[in-house]
Amino acid sequence: MQVYLNGEYPELTEACVSVEDRGFLFADGIYEVVRCYAGRFFELDRHLARLERSAREIRLGLPLSRDELRLVAQELLRRTGLLDCSLYLQATRGVAPRNHAFPVGVTPTLFAMLQPAPSPDPALAERGGAAVTVPDERWGRCDIKAVGLLPNILAKQKAVEAGAQEAIFIRDGLVTEGSASNVFAVLDGVLWTHPQDRRILGGITREVTLELAREQGVPVREEAITQNMLWQAQELFCTGTVAEFLPVVRLDGQPVGDGRPGPVCRRLAAAFAARHG
Ligand code: PDD
Repeated sequence: MQVYLNGEYPELTEACVSVEDRGFLFADGIYEVVRCYAGRFFELDRHLARLERSAREIRLGLPLSRDELRLVAQELLRRTGLLDCSLYLQATRGVAPRNHAFPVGVTPTLFAMLQPAPSPDPALAERGGAAVTVPDERWGRCDIKAVGLLPNILAKQKAVEAGAQEAIFIRDGLVTEGSASNVFAVLDGVLWTHPQDRRILGGITREVTLELAREQGVPVREEAITQNMLWQAQELFCTGTVAEFLPVVRLDGQPVGDGRPGPVCRRLAAAFAARHG
């Protein structure tokens, strides 16, 4: 593991952020997680574009340009020699005496780390996993990749305690997304997923999945499904940078479809693996 903090590449134990950092005091920050396969970042540009968008939406001026961020990512790779790893990037509004309003004349904190990231358990991809449904009690700007993840953490912990891998959020009777993933359902051959609006994070893996589905001629509907439709789905799966493709074969303890990963999920997962090489 190697870290970057505000222009330097310190030892992990030497990397220190002030207790007055607004990320620590207010969760006043944004982040990204980028996968690196065989020494190549997957969709780095889209992740950096989303980081810039998140920064704009919270009115935070990133201290580095996209090209400079790319150089930091490459330098972390060079220093570690890691091949299969994940890059975490975080920017906060910086260090200032605690006061809700934006501080004036403060440089944002920029942090990055590169750590080994083994691929998800192949047994899960093969046999599928479990999910639980939870009420979506998050804020109204889930499109911003903000570091304040308490509802996501509580949801994920519910999943873990139920022996499941993911929690699926339900808001106003509609399926929004997972605690750290986007959710897809196959109903009568059509692939459904929540539209990209303020209720979900516009996942990069979601975007790639939609591209692959269109390439493969799978009909797509970017429309939210109701909680009841979950029980009519032949297939259900979650996508994300860390989870990649998680076929959900049990939901709230009941089988989904025939209780096995379905053909659409399998095909898209294979195409996704081929895409990142
Ligand atoms: N999370 N929705 C939420 C709420 C997420 O936190 C994530 C990813 C996704 C999927 O986005 P992407 O395909 O761009 O990774 C959707 C990251 C991996 C995390 O918090 O660790």
